[in-house]
Amino acid sequence: MFEHIERVPGDAILGLIEAFKKDTNPQKVDLGVGVYRDSKGNTPVMRAVKEAEARLLKNESTKTYIGSHGAPAYSDVVLPMVLGSDSPVLAAKRASATQSPGGTGALRLAADFIAAQLPGKGIWVSDPTWPNHHGIFTSAGIELHKYPYVDADNRLDFSGMLAALKKIPEGDVVVLHACCHNPTGFDLSQEQWQEVLGVLRERKLLPLVDFAYQGFGEGLDEDAYGVRLLAEKLDEVIITSSCSKNFGIYCERTGCLIMVAKDVEQMENVRSQVAIVARENYSNPPAHGGAIVSEILGDAELTAMWREELTEMRDRINTLRRDFVDALKPYGLDQKYACVAEQRGMFSYTGLTPEQVDRLRDEFGIYMVRSGRANVAGFSHENLPYLAKAIAAVND
Ligand code: LMR
Repeated sequence: MFEHIERVPGDAILGLIEAFKKDTNPQKVDLGVGVYRDSKGNTPVMRAVKEAEARLLKNESTKTYIGSHGAPAYSDVVLPMVLGSDSPVLAAKRASATQSPGGTGALRLAADFIAAQLPGKGIWVSDPTWPNHHGIFTSAGIELHKYPYVDADNRLDFSGMLAALKKIPEGDVVVLHACCHNPTGFDLSQEQWQEVLGVLRERKLLPLVDFAYQGFGEGLDEDAYGVRLLAEKLDEVIITSSCSKNFGIYCERTGCLIMVAKDVEQMENVRSQVAIVARENYSNPPAHGGAIVSEILGDAELTAMWREELTEMRDRINTLRRDFVDALKPYGLDQKYACVAEQRGMFSYTGLTPEQVDRLRDEFGIYMVRSGRANVAGFSHENLPYLAKAIAAVND
């Protein structure tokens, strides 16, 4: 039965984890998968998470199922985090959260919901986007299209994006990255979000906002500007939120699908359908990550501790962005890579070609996605001189 099955290459991002582990170069640098790293290259458990886990261990009294929508305590803290504590959308009970196995699980729920409830509608993703968007939406049977996002000079192509959005057929779904665009790091300004809102409204398009990096760009509320704007001004919005990065709980698979509908009645109808999608995929989400998040956000002291640590992570990344460009000055390459200091979030679309990325890996043990996407959190003050030298060598 299996004779005809062909072997396929592994995932382009996750495959880098294994390749990096195997490399024996003592100077190797991991700029691959999107996890935060401290100055020693470690991905530590946040202090607030450790404390929350200690409390959970002490107080947990059952491991029973938490239901297809997940724990209500998780929705109660995540909805205000995403939509704002004073959100009119929440006051009108127009939003519902369904806990999911990570942001990827939320995207999968969204994809299956769209395929089942909005048959025939296409989905539009930025070019480039997180490669897994392609797989998730096409495997759900949705027709995938692209709109431009970066130009030939590796800059945000906002006019190209807007012009393309204006031609999308009515009722199609448009995937937008709330902040920290993956893979480019180019984010929309508030004015640009307003323009996007105008087009979505005019063309009657349904936004699906992928919000995987809240707090890694400018701040928890600042990063939510576009999400909150669309949720408040439009009748219907789909949001996929992740706590993997901002709580550093990657392996706990903690995210949620937020469905915003016109009114409470429609929201409950939609919510009932999402429960079926969750049930058919995995039944109930894993509980532990959501419990950590609700423990932290339900306690003022832990919340303050977590916010402080998140700010430290964001500030570190933004400092490293500037220091990376400075490290390239002696090689006359600072202008060429100046975009790295302007981009936001964990990733930078560096403009390095796939051939240059291959040389960095083979000659210097520096690992990044072949598209030229670098995880900026993998930079450190120790490895920046080495990185700069290597980048200069592959630019020769
Ligand atoms: C990434 O883009 O590196 C992360 O979102 C991890 C993943 O699952 O690809």
